[in-house]
Amino acid sequence: MTGWLDGYVALITGGGSGIGRAVAERFLAEGASVAILGRDRAQLDAVVTESADPDRMLAVEADVRDADALHAAVAGTVHRFGKLDTLVTNAGIWDYKRAITRFDANTLSSTFDEVFAVNVKGYLLAAEAAWRELVKTRGSIVMTLSNSSFYVDGGGPIYTASKHACLGLVRELAYELAPKVRVNGVACGGMNTDLRGPQSLDMQERSLAASFAKRTDATPPPPIPLHDSSTDPRDFTGSYVLLASREQSGPITGHAISVDGGIGVRGFATAAGGDHL
Ligand SMILES: NC(=O)c1ccc[n+]([C@@H]2O[C@H](COP(=O)([O-])OP(=O)(O)OC[C@H]3O[C@@H](n4cnc5c(N)ncnc54)[C@H](O)[C@@H]3O)[C@@H](O)[C@H]2O)c1
Repeated sequence: MTGWLDGYVALITGGGSGIGRAVAERFLAEGASVAILGRDRAQLDAVVTESADPDRMLAVEADVRDADALHAAVAGTVHRFGKLDTLVTNAGIWDYKRAITRFDANTLSSTFDEVFAVNVKGYLLAAEAAWRELVKTRGSIVMTLSNSSFYVDGGGPIYTASKHACLGLVRELAYELAPKVRVNGVACGGMNTDLRGPQSLDMQERSLAASFAKRTDATPPPPIPLHDSSTDPRDFTGSYVLLASREQSGPITGHAISVDGGIGVRGFATAAGGDHL
């Protein structure tokens, strides 16, 4: 084996589908052993069984809002593989771009609490559960961020604020855990995944993949500079490998790599979102 992550051990939240699964499979191919954490036991088991090397994978059923379960996941990973080099915080939900003008106050409040509990608290609790083991290995944390960590219109106010908050976690934790543990992010653009919505909006069964399935040859290209940019999560995994590898990115911390087809250079798509109000 001569991968960039030879002998590494990683724990990936939300590793049962989408970009989390793609990163798990890529890490495995790069020589790592990988624990995947999620809420759906059957889904996680299937990922392990279908993987290239089930002996180097571990499925952990847990909710990222549960601090004790995250501690148990870290302990279980170390028990099975001997150490922890990389934590990928990734489990998340989307608000399906629900604008403030389409909320009543109570639903806004409950949706905020739910999305922030998963997307932000879930990342912070995982980091808290893992940092002691990461100090031992001089390991690192890689957080899945989003174009919504920098720009508007990739979500509604709740999702956008949650992903901006995750960028704040990258920067603050990079400071607090240095010099022993590096903390970085990968700011993904649109990917064809199973990304779900909040239960508070009754959108827990809605999947982003359904909107990709509706696309036809006649569908206009997405409004990003790289029109033909891939939406296959497997094509987004390289930056995770780079940031996880201390040999390849040892001096990088507190940084986010944008893998978004160039959204940041496109300028305004429309002048304002509320011209119809
Ligand atoms: N799909 C996109 O276009 C896109 C773009 C930018 C960023 N992202 C981010 O990528 C990350 C992964 O999402 P994805 O697109 O791969 O979708 P996905 O739904 O395929 O993956 C998310 C995973 O997290 C799990 N999960 C959700 N809530 C959980 C909880 N409370 N506890 C444990 N596991 C939980 C889900 O079961 C799922 O396996 C998210 O943070 C998302 O915000 C996605």
